[in-house]
Amino acid sequence: MSLPFRGYECSPWELRWRGLAVDQLQRTESTFALSNGHIGVRGTLEEGEPRGLPGTYLNGFYEEHELPYAEAGYGYPEAGQTVVNVTDGKVIRMLVEDEPFDMRYGSATAHDRVLDFRTGTLTRTTEWESPTGRRVRVRTQRLVSFTQRAVVAIRYEVEPLEDDLQLVLQSDLLANEPIESDAGDPRVAAALQCPLESEFTYAQHYRAALVHRTKRSGLRMAAAMDHQIESPDGLRTEIAVENDLARLTVAVDVPRGKRVRLTKFLGYGWSAQRSIPALRAQVDAALAGALQTGWDGLLAEQKAFLDDFWDTADIQIDGDPELQQATRFALFHVLQAGARGESRAIPGKGLTGPGYDGHAFWDTESFVLPVLTYTMPEAARDALRWRHSTLDKARDRARQLGLRGAAFPWRSINGAECSAYWPAGTAAFHVSADIADAVARYLAATEDREFERTCGTEMLVETARLWMSLGHYDSHGRFRIDGVTGPDEYSAVADNNVYTNLMAARNLREAAASCERIPQVARALEATEHELGTWREAADRMLIPYDRELGVHPQSEGFTEHADWDFAGTPQRNYPLLLNYPYFDLYRKQVVKQADLVLALHLCGDAFTPEEKTRDFAYYEERTVRDSSLSAGTQAVVAAEVGHLELAYDYLGEAALTDLRDVHNNVRNGLHMASLAGAWNGVVAGFGGMRDHNGKLAFAPRLPPQLSRIEFRMCLRDSRFAVEVHAERATYRLLSGKPVEITHHGKACTVSEEPLSLPIPVLDPGPPPRQPTGREPSRRKPEHIRRPAGAARESTPG
Ligand code: BGC
Repeated sequence: MSLPFRGYECSPWELRWRGLAVDQLQRTESTFALSNGHIGVRGTLEEGEPRGLPGTYLNGFYEEHELPYAEAGYGYPEAGQTVVNVTDGKVIRMLVEDEPFDMRYGSATAHDRVLDFRTGTLTRTTEWESPTGRRVRVRTQRLVSFTQRAVVAIRYEVEPLEDDLQLVLQSDLLANEPIESDAGDPRVAAALQCPLESEFTYAQHYRAALVHRTKRSGLRMAAAMDHQIESPDGLRTEIAVENDLARLTVAVDVPRGKRVRLTKFLGYGWSAQRSIPALRAQVDAALAGALQTGWDGLLAEQKAFLDDFWDTADIQIDGDPELQQATRFALFHVLQAGARGESRAIPGKGLTGPGYDGHAFWDTESFVLPVLTYTMPEAARDALRWRHSTLDKARDRARQLGLRGAAFPWRSINGAECSAYWPAGTAAFHVSADIADAVARYLAATEDREFERTCGTEMLVETARLWMSLGHYDSHGRFRIDGVTGPDEYSAVADNNVYTNLMAARNLREAAASCERIPQVARALEATEHELGTWREAADRMLIPYDRELGVHPQSEGFTEHADWDFAGTPQRNYPLLLNYPYFDLYRKQVVKQADLVLALHLCGDAFTPEEKTRDFAYYEERTVRDSSLSAGTQAVVAAEVGHLELAYDYLGEAALTDLRDVHNNVRNGLHMASLAGAWNGVVAGFGGMRDHNGKLAFAPRLPPQLSRIEFRMCLRDSRFAVEVHAERATYRLLSGKPVEITHHGKACTVSEEPLSLPIPVLDPGPPPRQPTGREPSRRKPEHIRRPAGAARESTPG
């Protein structure tokens, strides 16, 4: 392979990579992953090899394994869950005369792959010369359908470039594909080998199916394929099936100037309960639908779905093309993670890789759902319905812990707690308040009373009850929540974490308000007026620690009295700190992994004065090391609010480019959904200053000098509107629906069809805050902005 690679090219509506770099494949397999929230396929090459890490995932389909403990303790979760690499339907191998098409051999004169954010397809074009000089052009395109959620489709076209050639294509369904695990890094998921047991197979004409079941979790899945072939005469085909492999073989002589075109339709389904015949029928039906729509029809549906999404959600950024691309890339992947999840979780990596064992965390409710609430609210609702469907498990967990109400899991696929490390798992009770917050935000943004009646009120009530049993009144009549872990995982089991307490107070108030809106549900849940009164009182008396001497909030009681971390004496190679220092030491020092108090400044901003925000932000900037990808987006938001616009711009760049630049050196295991969502947050809540405290929409836009204009779109109830920001003015305009009430820098106004243009007040932010030595975000400089990411790198691997 002689073609040099140049990394991603900078372009507003697509992600393109020219050339092949075998050592970069794992990275691009994640960034080029396609998903609709139900099925996810990594961006591996059709011929299966060379490859980094293959992966095909079905949302919610997992295998169980034991969680071993050196020392047992009461209430430790006993079983873990791991996402399974299911039957791979992407594989299409080829023989050119008698030589396998394999990019590690021969040479490629052209090779590029393009993820198109508007068509929702991954396209590949390769011109390849075999070791003995036979030349072909291969063009493939694939999609995971947003409109037919069980369907994946691939078009594979080959044309001889010089001579007439005999071509043999082998289109596979492959189960129990061997995968290598990366167990050296504790953050990386444990991969399971051969998790599937064959239960049923069939093959006929161009169609085949495999049905498998997991060994321990007992989940059943089916994958089926069918094909259409367009080719010169003389085609010979054969279909064969074994337990873990179904294969359609197509052999044909293709004269120069002609081509062979194979269109492969895949149907996927899984169930914990359905029988083999029922699942087989399900995937056959998915194929029937896909064939009836046809390849062109699937492409057209995909485009129409995305046109509608971008009409509601697009972000335009003038002055930084790389950030423009990264922001749309981020939105596209957030959409892919959530669009058709339909009452399943949105995992921390979406369905782009096996990282974090495929678990969902608070990342979903606190980072991803705000984006979806204002861009595709049905997807936010469905993700919350998944949480609702796990309420019984959350109630059981609360009971097991001696608590009332519902304790949602820190990490899970099916709703049961899977975190074996309780200080950063079970003790991170804030996840329940984060879920309640996402419910309240969704209800305020949509007024979806049906969801509130069937799911929302119950979730708010059960989480409110958790806080009442977890907290207590001290002798001064203050409501305390002791012994919990907040968002910052470098502090654990601390008292009165400000973020947790403020979010719990909101949870209690929202639960009471929802009960009053829907009294019949409140009655059914036995939430009496007295109980509502106790929630409101606890919220009003919630203890929020404050360090008067320093004039800042300790993120938890006593935090500001801890010893400082020796940042100057910490070499850069020792980050992330969790891999190089004992937690014991991190826990007792003032070192912050990720925004915690600063996240409170964003999400609970109405509980702080502007002066407090400025002082708190500066204090925590000096102590935050960003060892989590969840941090930069939030730091961008608060930096923008307190007026440090250039710093906000740097943080936004880091959040948006986390995966494209592989900032945390683990993108091979999947994309970071919360960080991608952080790109939206950085633009909309950062430079747009959007806040939604108490269900009211407020904007306080301000641009950094590097950007000449941004425009973002949002939906609220049945309305869509756009906010356009220039250096000195912002313009609001309604795109459809009823006028929307907002505030602009504190002034109430109405967004209607007539564009409303308002001045932006100037803010003097004072001196810029400092970061720990070496942990400053990298500066986004204009010369660096114009160059495509990775453009300087050249290599001739393989
Ligand atoms: C972060 C958590 C996060 C998890 C999954 C950890 O590194 O500290 O806050 O939920 O990653 O993204």
